Amino acid sequence: MMKMNDFETHISNYLKRQRPCLISDAMAYAMEGGKRFRPRIIFAITKGMGFDENIAYDAALALEMIQTYSLIHDDLPAMDNDDMRRGKPSLHKAFREDIAILTGDQLLTDAFRVISESKDYDDSVKINIIRALSTYAGSDGMIYGQLLDVTADDEHIDKKKLEEIQDNKTGGLFKISCLIPMYIRKEKNEAYYTKLGSLIGRIFQNQDDLFDQIKTEQEMGKNLSDAKNNKGTALSVYSLQELKDLIDEEFARLDRYLEEATFDTSYLKDILKKLKER
Ligand code: IPE
Ligand code: IPE
Ligand code: MG
Ligand code: MG
Ligand code: MG
Repeated sequence: MMKMNDFETHISNYLKRQRPCLISDAMAYAMEGGKRFRPRIIFAITKGMGFDENIAYDAALALEMIQTYSLIHDDLPAMDNDDMRRGKPSLHKAFREDIAILTGDQLLTDAFRVISESKDYDDSVKINIIRALSTYAGSDGMIYGQLLDVTADDEHIDKKKLEEIQDNKTGGLFKISCLIPMYIRKEKNEAYYTKLGSLIGRIFQNQDDLFDQIKTEQEMGKNLSDAKNNKGTALSVYSLQELKDLIDEEFARLDRYLEEATFDTSYLKDILKKLKER
């Protein structure tokens, strides 16, 4: 079992160290309630490599800060315009739009400070983590994917475009999850771990798009607005049944890919099982 409570304590201790102000209040509000899937993947691989998972806490905190910022900005009126997130009012509703923008900016910026100031990594590991965060949360990942997402509508999307959107907007942060343990282990196999993140990200976003149709906002803790906003999603190119079958195929493909792994995959498989059953 993973020590997720200890990681939550790590997050709240970090938040308590912030200068008291409206933004630190907003940061604490926004960070609360996430499922922490990206940290869970980091910890599962880290454990599978034979390390204690707490060696990855600072890196997982930084990634979860970036994940949280991406959601704050994704919900803004100019983006998806959603009022609910993580089971409560979106940050711009609970605070104000200007505060939400600044809080996102701060979470992103401070994520790099967390890595820079960490006592758990030597400088070469820090540089690698910083490079992965900036690459795959930025122009070769999440931001590029969000650009494709906001410019793709329901009618002008095909399977190839969909894969490109998913591989960047969602795959980006999952690639980072898989790379962090590799850097901690000082292994050099970027291709294997980015592909692993990409496969997980694809499944995750396909499920998310599927849930827009088959789950309730209450269950998901967020608005399911993409169809209403005419957004290009997996359901623009697949029927419900095709999408369910595709997700099953992708899980099988991921299983096969894990046969080539050079770490004990049992912890990661536990997480993937939970993902499959959600
Ligand atoms: C939401 O991610 C954004 C997507 C890629 C679909 P999560 O579903 O992991 O959201 P939190 O972090 O648990 O709130
Ligand atoms: C957003 O995808 C993924 C991000 C990079 C933030 P969605 O717009 O589908 O995420 P949700 O459904 O609002 O969580
Ligand atoms: Mg969006
Ligand atoms: Mg959204
Ligand atoms: Mg969604």
